Amino acid sequence: MAIIAGQAVRGENFWDRPYLMEDITDIIESGGHILLVAPRRVGKTSLMYKILDTMGEEYVVIYINTEAEHSVEAFWEKLFHELMDDEFIGTLSNKANNLWTKLKSIRLSEAGTKGIKFGDSEPIDYAKAFLDLLKSVDTDKKLIIMLDEFSQTIENIIQRESIEKAEQLLKVHREIRQNHKVSEKTVFIYAGSIGLESVVANINSSKHINDLASIAVPPFEAEDAKAFAKDLCDKNGIAIEESDIVYMLGKIEWYIPFYIQLLAQEVKRLYRRNPEVNESVIDRAVENALSNRKDFIHWEERLNTFSKKGRVYAKEVLSLISTKKSVESKELSNLVVKHKIKEAEAKEIIHALKYDGYINNSGDARIYRFNSPLLRIWWYNNVAN
Ligand SMILES: Nc1ncnc2c1ncn2[C@@H]1O[C@H](COP(=O)(O)OP(=O)(O)OP(=O)(O)O)[C@@H](O)[C@H]1O
Ligand SMILES: [Mg+2]
Repeated sequence: MAIIAGQAVRGENFWDRPYLMEDITDIIESGGHILLVAPRRVGKTSLMYKILDTMGEEYVVIYINTEAEHSVEAFWEKLFHELMDDEFIGTLSNKANNLWTKLKSIRLSEAGTKGIKFGDSEPIDYAKAFLDLLKSVDTDKKLIIMLDEFSQTIENIIQRESIEKAEQLLKVHREIRQNHKVSEKTVFIYAGSIGLESVVANINSSKHINDLASIAVPPFEAEDAKAFAKDLCDKNGIAIEESDIVYMLGKIEWYIPFYIQLLAQEVKRLYRRNPEVNESVIDRAVENALSNRKDFIHWEERLNTFSKKGRVYAKEVLSLISTKKSVESKELSNLVVKHKIKEAEAKEIIHALKYDGYINNSGDARIYRFNSPLLRIWWYNNVAN
């Protein structure tokens, strides 16, 4: 198991939580469609790769990332491009003949009349063609279409095209999912590093995704985190006492695998220079990890999706909590007054900060804290001061 802190992990580098895959398989088998829900960097893409690599012979699985697509048309082009990709088509011969034949017959229509042609047919629009294609999935197979960063695509369309276009795309997807001929043979799994639920709520379109089964990808439980950290160190030749693993996890608190990988990476670098791990080595590893701007900056940038006032409010909330470590909700109410922000918007922002993995009030509903001391310290050093 290599230490990987950044890219999605795959194969033997993936620390498996079998119960998560079982939850997912249950929904797939019962004909549901899935929304993977988790804050940034928790492991959604890695989990999608796991599904891609491990579903049995009776499934045809495709992973598509549409993060870079900024229009409805670009979304469909990317989708068809991936479906028509030689590597994917190659996995179908012998396995899913009908789908193979249909995909082979597709011709992207000439510029001007955008859409798809099957064989010599007249061009039809992407959504219709997609529906048509899904109906041709072989009866003994199930097609799993994973759309990563779909929420980003919707957000891009809202920003670059219009709310109406974004809503239309959400609606078309829902119609396709609800088509009973399709849903017998096709499963959609959506994910994104910004929450799809909050993106659609902003444009009053929650109704278009309320048929999706949400699967939360949670951080590791303490035992899993310990076992994962130990394995990561062992496999990378780092001799570490259990008490030091506990100390290291104490620096993380919110056990997302990314933070464990990040500290393991820094410990490994220090270990290479002096093969010893103790608490002061771990403290240095934490310091080094916190100096990597690229690993944390997205937490600040994410606030740009709030209104200008909302952003200022959110920043001050986080800065206050990073300074005081825990803050009572009435202190946050004082900030609402100070910033002359609407009560409802402030509530929505606090909800988003919880949902996106910054803070929680789970111990006591009145007390807010950062999920992880790592982010708290980074915020304190880089944003609050
Ligand atoms: N199952 C896992 N086993 C080991 N490491 C993992 C696992 N899942 C995630 N990671 C760690 O977390 C990092 C981020 O993983 P991944 O890209 O899958 O998360 P994500 O939720 O898709 O992130 P984003 O929201 O930014 O798209 C990886 O580089 C790796 O360090
Ligand atoms: Mg991802």
